[in-house]
Amino acid sequence: DAERTFVMVKPDGVQRGLIGEIISRFEDRGLKLVGAKFMQISDDLAHEHYGEHEGKPFFDGLVDFITSGPVMAMVWEGQDATRQVRTMMGETDPAESAPGTVRGDFGLDLGRNVIHGSDHADEGANEREIDLFFDEDELQDYDRID
Ligand code: CMP
Repeated sequence: DAERTFVMVKPDGVQRGLIGEIISRFEDRGLKLVGAKFMQISDDLAHEHYGEHEGKPFFDGLVDFITSGPVMAMVWEGQDATRQVRTMMGETDPAESAPGTVRGDFGLDLGRNVIHGSDHADEGANEREIDLFFDEDELQDYDRID
């Protein structure tokens, strides 16, 4: 079914000039961009967004990193969009990501892995993350012509 998924180019991806490359990959794949926000994540938003990782050894570094510069937050829509995006992103660890995936092609390490996408295995993740970053009236409704 057509569904919406949350995707974000992290500060390393923005700073390395990878926003366009990443958007192109999703557009070429046939996914539809319905929301985009170039923004600075606050400390509070970082804690909410990554709440499930609170208490883990990498949590403080993760919050520091994700607030270290602007991110490109996006909502993409399409058939099975969450799984499609996960496939195109690669694994969390770039070293384990196949060439041709965003992290396999551009990721440097577990922290600087260029991109975030909602967890496919986590049922409510998409809705939760979209709600956290976007108001409903910031999401656009239009037809993609393929
Ligand atoms: P992301 O998909 O944004 O979700 C949580 C992030 O935490 C993950 O990508 C990684 O960038 C980061 N992360 C996960 N595990 C580790 C780890 N062991 N060390 C450092 N960062 C991690």
